[in-house]
Amino acid sequence: MFVQSLPLEVIQKISAGEVIESPVDCVKELVENSLDAKSSRVDVEIIKGGKRYISVRDNGTGIHRDDMEKVIQRWSTSKIKDVSDLLSITSFGFRGEALYAIAMVSRLVIKSRFFQDQLGIKMRVEDGKVLEKQEIGMQIGTCVEVYDLFYNLPVRLRFLKKEDTERNRIIKLMKEYALSKWDVHFTLTSNGRKVFDLYPCQDVKERIQLLFGQKFEERKNSKNGVSVSLYTSLENTRGEVYLFVNSRPVQNRNLLEYIRKTVGYKKVCVCYIDLPPYMVDVNVHPKKREVKIYKENLVKELIRELFKKTPPYFNFMLAQEKASYTPSVEIIGIIDKTLILVKIGDYLYFFDQHLLSERLLYEASGDLSASCKGALKAGDDLSKDSALELVRAWLSFENKEVCPHGRPIYYKLYIGDIYKNLDRRR
Ligand SMILES: Nc1ncnc2c1ncn2[C@@H]1O[C@H](COP(=O)(O)OP(=O)(O)O)[C@@H](O)[C@H]1O
Ligand SMILES: [Mg+2]
Repeated sequence: MFVQSLPLEVIQKISAGEVIESPVDCVKELVENSLDAKSSRVDVEIIKGGKRYISVRDNGTGIHRDDMEKVIQRWSTSKIKDVSDLLSITSFGFRGEALYAIAMVSRLVIKSRFFQDQLGIKMRVEDGKVLEKQEIGMQIGTCVEVYDLFYNLPVRLRFLKKEDTERNRIIKLMKEYALSKWDVHFTLTSNGRKVFDLYPCQDVKERIQLLFGQKFEERKNSKNGVSVSLYTSLENTRGEVYLFVNSRPVQNRNLLEYIRKTVGYKKVCVCYIDLPPYMVDVNVHPKKREVKIYKENLVKELIRELFKKTPPYFNFMLAQEKASYTPSVEIIGIIDKTLILVKIGDYLYFFDQHLLSERLLYEASGDLSASCKGALKAGDDLSKDSALELVRAWLSFENKEVCPHGRPIYYKLYIGDIYKNLDRRR
C-alpha cells in the first residue's frame, strides 16, 4: 500500500500557501482589509522585504472582541452573508480566507480595538492556533503583525525571492494603493527607514505629484460612457506606467504598451480608465490582475486623441508650468522658534522665519515698513503647516535670495555633501 491521505494539517498548510504565496500577497490582503474597514490612515512596516516581519496598522472600525477568534477561521467574513451579496461586492476581500491563510503559515499577532470599545484585544496565533489573548490599551483600529512568514512551510520559504525583490514588489503595490486611494494617509517603512509618507490629498493629481516628487500634466477625454484621465510627468525619468480600471490597479499588456508608445518611454504615466462594469471582465480571483476590456479600441482612441495635436498655446502653458515647477518640500522642524528647517529637493534649507515672512508680506503689499512690522518675529510660534505655506510661497518668488533689506533669507546645505562627509554613498 503506497497511497496515503495527507494529514489534515499538511493539507491546510499547502492550501494556505496557495492563497498567500509571498510577502506582497500578505501586505495586499492586510491593506485591503484596512481599506475595507474604512480607515483613513494605513501604516505599513516591513523588515527584510517582509520575510522577517510585516505590520499593517490602521485607524478603521476595528474588530469586535467576540469576532477576534473568528477572523482567523476559514471562510469567515463580515463582508457577505449570502449568495445574492456576491453580485454586488464593493469590498476588496470577501472570501474570508486571507487571515486564515496567514495565520496558518506565520506567527501572527492581531491587535484590534473596536470603535465602540474602550480597550483593545491582543491575540497571538501560531500554526493557526490561538496561543494568547488579552486586553490592551490602544487606539481604535487594527494592527496585524506577521512574523517569519512560511517558517513552517519550507517549500514556500525556498521560493521566496531575494529581499530586494520582495521589497520592491511591496513598494510597487503600496504605490498603487496610494494612487487609487488618494484621500488615505499611507506610510511605508522598510528596515526602519521611511520609504514614503503620503498625507491625505485633495485630489488625485496632488497625490501623484506628492508620490513622484514632480509636476504632472493632466489630460482627460471621454466618449460613450468611457472616460480616461491620464497624468504624465513633465520631466523625463525612468518610464513607468500605472493603469487603473474603475479605481483598481490592473495589468493589461496590450494597453500598457500602447500607453508607453503614445506618451513616450521616459515619462511616468498614471492612467485611470472608468467604464461601465459590463465592459470589463475582471476575474473574481483576488490575485488575477489581468483584465479584459471589451471596448479596448475605444479606450485607445480616447488616449490617442489626447496626444494627437498640440495647440500652439499649449507649449506656452507647458513652459509656464515648468517655470513654476515645485520640487518636493518637507518641513523637518523649527529650531529655536527662529529657523525653519526644510528639505527641498536635494538640499536642506534653514530659513529665518522673520525674514521669510517679511519678504512675503513685502511681495504682497510692496510696503517695506508695514511688512517689517507685520512680519513674524523670531520667537513667535509657527506651526509646521504655516511654515510650509511660507516656503511654498517663497518658491514662487522671482528673486529668492534676500529680504527687502538685503539680508539673506536662508542658508542651505547640499544633502549629498552631508553623505559625503559621513563617508556614505547615497
Ligand atoms: N483591519 C481590519 N479591520 C477591521 N476588520 C478586519 C480587519 N482585518 C480583518 N477584519 C475582519 O476579519 C474578517 C476576515 O478577514 P479576511 O480573512 O481577510 O477575509 P475577508 O476580507 O475576505 O472578509 C473580515 O471580514 C473582517 O470582518
Ligand atoms: Mg480580506
